[in-house]
Amino acid sequence: MIIEMKEITKTYHPHKDVPVKALSGLNMSVREGEMLAIYGVSGSGKSTLLHIIGGLDRASSGEYRFDGIDMNTQKDTQLARLRNEHIGFVLQDFGLISHRTAIDNVMVPVMFSKRSIKEGILRGKELLNELGIGELKNRKVYQMSGGQKQRVAIARALMNQPKLILADEPSGALDSTTKAEIYSIFEKLKQEGKTIIVVTHDHEIETIADRVLQIKDGCLH
Ligand SMILES: Nc1ncnc2c1ncn2[C@@H]1O[C@H](COP(=O)(O)OP(=O)(O)OP(=O)(O)O)[C@@H](O)[C@H]1O
Ligand SMILES: [Mg+2]
Repeated sequence: MIIEMKEITKTYHPHKDVPVKALSGLNMSVREGEMLAIYGVSGSGKSTLLHIIGGLDRASSGEYRFDGIDMNTQKDTQLARLRNEHIGFVLQDFGLISHRTAIDNVMVPVMFSKRSIKEGILRGKELLNELGIGELKNRKVYQMSGGQKQRVAIARALMNQPKLILADEPSGALDSTTKAEIYSIFEKLKQEGKTIIVVTHDHEIETIADRVLQIKDGCLH
């Protein structure tokens, strides 16, 4: 199992507000190479779960092992290294630096690793080509369409050859053709043996997912 979660809870404490229980006793196991889709209504805890899986945030309680590593006992710096080496993020707001070019954005993970810049640029160009936006490598992100930005985000997520790809609503705000293209990219990644977890409202993902789960009341069903 690449992911093993037992009785995970997450409670947020918004300033001066009542605590928000986002996850309550969630269990989850994911095999390496599996593609999992997670559905859930707005506010059901999907992004919270992805953030914990990816080590961007920590659970309030429960056990979480990623690739056999106990994520609860990792220091922040260790979590940051794990993320950069093994996990590719395609997050809800794209998380791109909009005033920088596609290639600059794709190079961000390389900047935080020991990889050579020269090799990084070669790989970055190759990935942008594979994703069909090679000719836009020097274009600034704010001058791109939603689908093009989404591809830059996917290229960046793939830069360090991660084992696990986490995608938060990757088809949101895309037209059906672009969405189909993004899904076929995920399908190709699955064939390459990557583990992929996609959070979405879109039922079309069922055509490529190995398994579909529902998040409700802070648990998976
Ligand atoms: N940083 C935070 N501080 C306080 N509460 C939060 C925080 N982040 C999320 N929440 C709350 O936790 C719950 C789960 O939020 P989350 O973002 O995980 O939902 P989601 O399923 O991703 O929703 P959406 O489909 O709208 O993206 C919500 O009630 C939300 O208001
Ligand atoms: Mg969300």
